[in-house]
Amino acid sequence: MNPPARIRAADDPAALDDAAALLAGGRLVGVPTETVYGLAADATNGEAVASIFAAKGRPRFNPLIAHVDGLDRAQTLIELGEAGVQLAEAFWPGPLTLVGRQMPASPVSDLATAGLDTLAVRHPRSEAMTRLISVLDRPLAAPSANPSGRLSPTTAEDVATGLGDKVRLILDAGACPVGVESTIVDISGDTPRLLRPGGVSVEAIERIVGPLDHADDGSVTAPGMLVSHYAPNATLRLNADAPQPGEAWLGFGPGLEPKVDISLNLSTQGFLEEAAARLFSALRELDSRSTRIAVAPIPETGLGLAINDRLKRAAAPR
Ligand code: TXA
Ligand code: MG
Repeated sequence: MNPPARIRAADDPAALDDAAALLAGGRLVGVPTETVYGLAADATNGEAVASIFAAKGRPRFNPLIAHVDGLDRAQTLIELGEAGVQLAEAFWPGPLTLVGRQMPASPVSDLATAGLDTLAVRHPRSEAMTRLISVLDRPLAAPSANPSGRLSPTTAEDVATGLGDKVRLILDAGACPVGVESTIVDISGDTPRLLRPGGVSVEAIERIVGPLDHADDGSVTAPGMLVSHYAPNATLRLNADAPQPGEAWLGFGPGLEPKVDISLNLSTQGFLEEAAARLFSALRELDSRSTRIAVAPIPETGLGLAINDRLKRAAAPR
């Protein structure tokens, strides 16, 4: 049996040195980002990348994001084009992932791209992760640090709970400020296309590059976007007016709190950023206390798109 994961402060230089040494040796490290915690490995090391899939129980056809420390490294990995450069300059470091055609000399392992000729790249707003990438001088592959299909981790403790002894070291920078994963935009075609709503709103992106292409039926098309995902053990009932007997309540916005024993509000003032930051931890808490959760309607605007996307997948039958 492996020892359990050690949680150490992400701003402790000795912990960062140890993390860099583990990564250089092909091992996995739990890392904080502004969106969710990631499970990082050297993206250029096929065996290291393979161990990410094994630790998460992730299907091999689901490609990973290569994290970079800036635009220069991104341009060694993918063709960004004009729209890609504009988006990177507007939102990096931050919760935006760009999918582009991979450069012929890209050192990223084929396992990370699941054999696609495109690659997903992001510069996270995380000092620890940016530092590790610069020190190693390599991109880091990092999916969310949860068992595949389950709720995403927004604290170091969530990572330890979900992955246990499958990771040696977790760097702790507190709760993730954004709380939902990055927005994914495919810039490999003529018009940038939304693949996953996330921490940067579609409205903000469209202010930079104009209207995004969407799938006709409104579905998102990143290969790993399975209908059931982010799944708690409890069943979820969405767009509820009020809880029914026996249900826990996940509210949003002002108004009377329902008279039930178990109730949380994502944002009593109705702020979508606050609701996104609390979403996964609220679901975790209610999931530990109830088998049925009713969820108030969330407006389909701004970060509401990402919140509703996660809720729909969390509620999907599996
Ligand atoms: O905020 C985030 O993006 C977090 C943090 C850790 O950076 N990462 C994250 O990774 O959410 P993951 O693996 O949980 O989700 C990555 C998504 C998957 O849906 C995958 O299918 C999609 O990105 N993806 C990766 N490469 C792709 C590609 N070449 N084309 C289309 N989608 C891709
Ligand atoms: Mg994930």
